[in-house]
Order: sequence, then structure tokens, then C-alpha cells
Amino acid sequence: MNASMHAENAATDIAAHLHPFTNLATHPQVGPLVIQRGDGIFVEDDQGRRYLEAMSGLWCASLGFSNQRLAKAGSDALYGLPYYHTFNGRSNPAAIALAEKLLSMAPVPMSKVFFANSGSEANDSAVKLVWYYHNAIGKPGKKKIIARRNAYHGVTVAASSLSGLVPNHRDFDLPIDRILHVDCPHHFRYAEAGESEEDFATRLAGALEQRILDEGPETVGAFIAEPVMGAGGVLVPPATYFDKVQKVLAKYEVLLIADEVICGFGRTGEMFGSTTFGLKPDILTAAKALSSGYVPISAVMVNEKVHAAVAANSGKIGTFGHGFTYSGHPVACAIALETLKVYEDENIVAHVQSLAPQFQQGLQSHASRKYVGEVRGVGLIGAIELYADPAKRTPFDPAQKAGARLAELALAQGLIVRAMGDSVAFCPPLIITAEQIDDMFARFGRAMAVFEETFA
Ligand SMILES: Cc1ncc(COP(=O)(O)O)c(C=O)c1O
Repeated sequence: MNASMHAENAATDIAAHLHPFTNLATHPQVGPLVIQRGDGIFVEDDQGRRYLEAMSGLWCASLGFSNQRLAKAGSDALYGLPYYHTFNGRSNPAAIALAEKLLSMAPVPMSKVFFANSGSEANDSAVKLVWYYHNAIGKPGKKKIIARRNAYHGVTVAASSLSGLVPNHRDFDLPIDRILHVDCPHHFRYAEAGESEEDFATRLAGALEQRILDEGPETVGAFIAEPVMGAGGVLVPPATYFDKVQKVLAKYEVLLIADEVICGFGRTGEMFGSTTFGLKPDILTAAKALSSGYVPISAVMVNEKVHAAVAANSGKIGTFGHGFTYSGHPVACAIALETLKVYEDENIVAHVQSLAPQFQQGLQSHASRKYVGEVRGVGLIGAIELYADPAKRTPFDPAQKAGARLAELALAQGLIVRAMGDSVAFCPPLIITAEQIDDMFARFGRAMAVFEETFA
């Protein structure tokens, strides 16, 4: 019965569904993995197979897949006020309470919160705010935004342009102009022989400064960074990197946007990655774990410097001409607010801090495996990067799809991890327990053993 249900699901999916980030040419042969329920950190497919979801879906389901408090908050909100908007001064109690709560949690003093529905929309909004801000303060030339190669900031036109991933630009005619990319701070891959993390960070900050000078500081408006680069391969910044980068930004009056879409809400062992790595952003974007992924919602926080200029400018124009039908959606805000309360009630940051050493040790336990080049991570996020010859740092030929093969083998062990190139990422729900961490790495170890026996 399960098999026939799956066959029917697969046929209809192939016939009707255009999948994001999927090879659309091969999808009809490969078919979908249809997930139909979840409990705790596990999900189950339409053939009854259970998987330990070590990626929290797409880095988001931090409270797992069956939190009853969130379900109830959503249902209460739906029965109370299922929809209202926030244009033209309208508001609703959930949006008001959520904005206040986010400001009270922010890693640096923030003044106002703007709501959107996805990380991409939040970053697009941040770009527009940077442009609007610089017009408002009489520096209309300062419009270029600097991002980093291998960054991921989303898929809307501006957010995709900010992303530094070639396949996301190719044939979409992106990036748009005024978006620049500088070096990726991946020490293991890009440091010169013998270069320390600190020296590498100095070199990258120097290159950033040179780029700003080459472009003309009067043309550069903002720099955007994920504290830990997620989809680029879980790249933890090298020591002193953000200190040095921020000194350069301050020198040329370049705003800092922290993309906390993955790092926000406990992932790195602090409530925000900005705290873990010492970022002092003017604008902060958050999404994903804001609602534990249960409903689409994102937030853009701005400091008073940005807000004051934006507010004054909107006064001149007569409106702040930006916003979404679902900005501050009452159901999404109610679920997000409850999510933040659960984080507090369950002391989620302390939980992450207590399990992080075991999690990082579990990753490190694979460091000397035959094909493992680098193991990296912080808090409850990490990755293992495969190399054909780790000692010589020789990568696999991308055509071999080593990372994807390992992720497939993990799936056969009932474990969902994510391959990004040959980096295999782990970002489990924050509610994971010590026993479940052991279970997760035991499953991964079995997959790795098969990989070693059968690959290359
Ligand atoms: C750091 C970061 N920023 C932005 C986004 C885009 O978020 P969304 O997919 O909700 O548009 C993502 C998604 O993975 C992300 O990881």
C-alpha cells in the first residue's frame, strides 16, 4: 500500500511540480522524496521510512517537527485573526509583540523591525533600505553593496545577486550591477601555505579596503555577511576576520548588514551569530528559526541611525513605499512569538552550549578518515569536506559528485544531511539530545564506511 501511494505521489509530483534547486532534467527519472510527517528530530516519508533530520529541513526547524506549542499558537491565531495587514499604520497585537520581543533580543541596539516572509525578501529589503538611506542622508552615490564569493543570501533578484554562487547567477542574467563580490574567508581552501588565520584575515581585510578604494568609497554603501556562511559550505570565519573587516567598513562609512538567516536564534551557541563573532550590524536580517520554519516569516532590524534617516525621508515623500501583503502576518507573528518564548522557556542557548562540544567532537571523530580534508563548525552547525587526497588538499573532480554520493549513502542509513559540493553539512534541530547526537554520527559513520569502500 505504501509503495503504491508513493508511486502515485511520485507520478503526480513529476507531472505537476517545478522543484527549486533541483536538476529539472533528471527529476523525472530520480523522482521525489515525499516527506509526509515528522516527530521530534525525525521525519517520515510516504513509504514509512524514518530519517533523522540532521539539517532541520533547510537549516530552520530548530524545534523539530512536532512542537505542540507552535501548532496551538498557529491554530489560536487562525481562529482569532487569520489575516490583517500592516500598511498605512495598521497593526495587530502579534506583530507588535514580536517586534518588541525581537528588539529586546537583538545582539546590538536596534530601533525598529520590518517584517517580510523569507530570508530573500529580508535581504532584498535590506538592499532597498541601504539605497533609500543613502539618498536620505544626501549621499546618493553610495549604492554599491559588497558581498562575498560563496555567500548565500537568497534568490530574489537582489538577494540572488548578493549570493556569490555561480549556478545561482548563470543564465538568470545576474548579478545586477552595484553588487560586488570579494574573497571568501575560507582559510583551509584559500590561505597561502603557512598563512595563519590571523594573517589570512589581515590579507582579506586589506583586499576589501583596496576594493573600496578602487571603486571609490563614495560609491560603496554596505557590506553584507553571514556570520557563518551556510550554503557556501558552513564556513566559520577565521580568527580576527570580522574585527578587521569592521575597521575597514567604519573607515569608509560603509554599513554592515548581518545576514542571520541561518545563525540567528541559538545556532552558533549564542542567540545571534553576531554575538559569537563580534559583528555590530546596522541592519540585521533573520528568518528560518524565527518561526522554527513552521510558517514563512522574516525580519529586518535596523538601528536608529538608519531608521531616523529612513523615517525622515518617508516624511518628505509621504510614505515609505515598501512592504508586503503579508508583512507582520498575524498567524506567522503569533507562531514566531511563541517560538521565541519556547527558546527562552527551554533555555535553548544553554542547551546548544552544553551539547556543542559533543557535536563538534562527533564531527572531528571523522577528521582522519580517508577522504576527509577539513572538519569545521561552531555550536550546532558544522560540515565535513571531502577531498580526493586530503594530505595534498586535492579536491575530487566535481563530476564525481562525491558529496552528493555520501549524502545518498547517509539517506540509506536513515540520515538526512546536505551536500554542498563536497562539503556535507549538519545543522540538526536545536532540541537534539546527547543520545541523538551519538545516533546521528553512528549513522553517518556507517554511510562513510560504505563510501570509503565503494567510492573513487
Ligand atoms: C544565510 C541565508 N540568507 C538568506 C537565505 C534565503 O532565505 P529564503 O530561502 O527564506 O528566501 C538563506 C536560505 O537558505 C540563507 O541561508
